[in-house]
This record gives sequence, structure tokens and C-alpha cells, in this order.
Amino acid sequence: MPGIGITRAGIAGLILAAVAMIVSANAKGTTAMPQKAPFGQTTDGTAVEIYTLTNKSGAEARIMTYGGTLVSLKVPDRNGQLGNVVLGFDSLDPYLAGVPYYGATIGRFGNRIAGGKFILDGATYQLPTNNGPNSLHGGNRGFDKRVWTAKPFANKYGPGLKLTYVSADGEEGYPGKFTTHVTYQLRNNNSLSIDYAATTTKATPVNLTNHSYFNLSGDVDHSIVDEMLMINADKFTPVDSTLIPTGVLQPVADTPFDFRKPTLIGAHINDDNQQIHFGPGYDHNWVLVKSKPGAMTTAAVLSDPTSGRVLEVKTTEPGLQFYTGNFQDGKPAGTGSVFKYRTGLTMETQHFPDSPNQPSFPSTILRPGHTYTSHTVFIFRTTK
Ligand code: BGC
Repeated sequence: MPGIGITRAGIAGLILAAVAMIVSANAKGTTAMPQKAPFGQTTDGTAVEIYTLTNKSGAEARIMTYGGTLVSLKVPDRNGQLGNVVLGFDSLDPYLAGVPYYGATIGRFGNRIAGGKFILDGATYQLPTNNGPNSLHGGNRGFDKRVWTAKPFANKYGPGLKLTYVSADGEEGYPGKFTTHVTYQLRNNNSLSIDYAATTTKATPVNLTNHSYFNLSGDVDHSIVDEMLMINADKFTPVDSTLIPTGVLQPVADTPFDFRKPTLIGAHINDDNQQIHFGPGYDHNWVLVKSKPGAMTTAAVLSDPTSGRVLEVKTTEPGLQFYTGNFQDGKPAGTGSVFKYRTGLTMETQHFPDSPNQPSFPSTILRPGHTYTSHTVFIFRTTK
């Protein structure tokens, strides 16, 4: 061939080199989009989808549109072995049959409202009572039992999923048409961020959270009492026998609620203490130390000595509900919790329980024209 003097083999080589450059640029620079798959349907025939988010380090989160639920979360142990650190199921059936909020998005109001009743701007609202005399986690059919719409995305930080649910005016007794967005992102540094945003057409209480049960060992039969916990709180909100706060902010010093230094969860979980009896165990709200309201600060650090996994929780919320699976009973879905006693613990970042009836607690009222926001990030790492 006259002229530039490049052979056919030379051209082929150049093309191969260019392809190799693009492939390696993708491996370094581009995050894979979440993969979507069918995950069954609800009893009224609504299709449910599950999205698999895989980050560049190989960690994986699976999130389904029913309940905006985190179904599984695989992160490495100290040897680089992936293990699932949240309790969940491989099919939709147990979730539909009824299990205690495994991995679900909780709303419109997470935690308890005393008597299912509150007064707002002079009007009295009565909610369904689904937990003894109180309303728990948004009522009979809270956000955990609704099908959300999902929009997958990927950017330089990792793959993500933006979920949206519109709650009708009066749904489960709450005032105002309420539009919620929950955005999960599995970042490439092995952290899972959850961002909440909401607006309303009428003033309403709001307290959104995620109800994942963590078990850092990756073994669903392993009790969480063997894990170590630090909670960044000097005070907690003691409760009555139905788990409604008394209104007092009690110092944790010299109580079984002192987790200011890393402490074995099992160390005082069965102490002869009235608050522990009410739990029974830990099922309380801690008042997080904050430099200013809404600051993104460390709420807790959980670690598992056997696997070497460590989980740091950061949040903009003022409170942390730490619950140790005291009601887990190993019975089948619909009648029980499937997983065994104390095999999962929740760290629900939120406002304090029963805030609509407790004037001294930070307000949970969202008004039209304002946007509710809340950010939480679960950061995973390992120790030797
Ligand atoms: C509550 C527990 C309840 C659990 C599951 C937690 O957020 O604090 O009392 O048993 O959710 O329903």
C-alpha cells in the first residue's frame, strides 16, 4: 500500500489497543447501571421489581419496589469475603405474608404515636392503632406495604435508585397529599446512603426512616448480642410500658444505656432495670450529640469481632432507635418474624418517638411550601 505505510495488521493492532483503552477506562470511570428483575406481584396484581446495585468494589445492594425495601446488602469481611449483613428474603411472599418491617422504608411516621392520636392546628387526628394502644410505623398499611416507583441511575459515586411514593390525603389517617422520594446510593467506597425528601399539601407529622436489621457476622443464626456498639449520645428517652417516651431526657451515665464507649451489646441487655424490662431489651431512642440541629454527625459505630466488619452510621436526624430484635421468634411469616430471637438489630435514624404529642421534642411537622429532608449513610469498613 503506497503512502502512509500502515499495514492491515498494524491497523488491527491499533483498533485492539483503542478497544482495550475504552474497556479499561470503563472499569475505572464508569459505574454500572442497576439491573432490574421481576420480583412477583402484590395481592392486587401490582408488579414488584427488584434492582441490583453493584459498586466498583463488588459490594451489592438489592432493593425492591414493595416497601422501598433493602432486601440484601453484601459487603466484604476482613478477608475480602462478601457476606449479607441485613436480614431479608429471596422472594416476595414472606414480605406480603407479614414480617416485622425487614429492610423497609417506614412512613409516614416512623415509631410510635401515643393512642394513635395527635392535635395539629386545633384539629384532632385519630390514626389506626396497630401496636397495643399506639400507632406504629405509619399504621396498618404504612409506606413499607406500598409499591414505589423506581428510577435507577449511576454516577461517579456509584449506582443508585430513586424511589417515589405519593400518599393520598387522609391515608392511614394523616392529613395532606404527601409526596416522598427516597434515594439509595451504593457508593464505591462501600457506603450506602439514603436521602429522603418530602412535600405535603396540608400540615402533617413526618418521620421517615429505614428499618434494616443488621447482623454484621453475615450469619443469620448468629446472635447480635456478640457485636460491639458505640452510640454517640449522652441521653436517651425513657419510655412507659407501651414504649411511649415519658418526655424526660435521661443521662445514660450509670445505666445499661451507656454506649458512649464501644460496649458489648450483650453486656447489660438482660439487666434487672425497669427500662430494660419494658424493651424487653433495647428498644429505645437515643438523643444524638449534635453540634447544631440537622448536622450530619456520627450516630453509632457497630462492629463484629468475628468477621472484622465495622459499620458507622451518620445522620442528620436528632435520634436513633436502637432495637435488638426482642420480638423476633423464628415463627413463620404472617404469624412471626421468621428470623430467630435477637439475630438482627435496627439503628433507625429518626426524630424522637411520639414527637407530635411532646412539645419539648424537636418538631416533626411539615407544612405546605416546605421540603422535608433527611440524610443517613451506612459506612462499611473492616478491622484486623
Ligand atoms: C420498634 C419495635 C418493633 C419493631 C418491629 C421497631 O422499630 O421499636 O418495638 O417491635 O420495630 O416492629
